[in-house]
Amino acid sequence: MCVESPFEILGVDPDADETEIVRAYRRRVKETHPDHGGSADAFQRVQTAYEALQNGHATDVPDAESGGEREPQPEGTRVEFLNYDVLDDHGWDLDDDDLFEKAADAGLDPEDYGKILVQPHEHLLEAAENRGFSWPFACRGGACANCAVAVVEGEMEMPSNHVLSAEMVEDGFGLSCISGPISDEMKVVFNIKHLPGLDELRLPAQRFNRPTD
Ligand code: FES
Repeated sequence: MCVESPFEILGVDPDADETEIVRAYRRRVKETHPDHGGSADAFQRVQTAYEALQNGHATDVPDAESGGEREPQPEGTRVEFLNYDVLDDHGWDLDDDDLFEKAADAGLDPEDYGKILVQPHEHLLEAAENRGFSWPFACRGGACANCAVAVVEGEMEMPSNHVLSAEMVEDGFGLSCISGPISDEMKVVFNIKHLPGLDELRLPAQRFNRPTD
């Protein structure tokens, strides 16, 4: 039986840096996704290879921007969340000053609007899932925009970023799979993956052993 290393599966050199690995992963995901002529097995192998390399690279290397480990709120962060689909349906805008007040009064479904307590060291996507919600994602490792959220109030720290532009980050966009809150309260709009600029950064969703978008 032929066993390929994660580097071989992604098609990168063993000394590839994180940016090269992310690029290779994005390319291989598109090549191997079943909707694009690949197979579930090949796609899963790429996913597994990326996760293996991430454990050896991304989690060990502090990002220059962040200066290292985030300092979460010791008591956790109360996060008010809103599904972007609801904005579309109601004609609301991300920049509306009273966006969350309108959401609170609109009688929305619990999966579209609500509050969760994010525990220290929980990532936002992970926290939502741990409380029974299914928010969009694909790679779970900072290489796409599927899990992007807009932080409307409060602060979230992203340990590394290889896909969002500086302007997007400046505008409060972040990747929920690798980021966690650092303020005691936060308001976020999730499911913003189809916004201009983010849509083209999406990857085919991982849909074989986890909930999907
Ligand atoms: Fe790809 Fe979060 S799911 S960056």
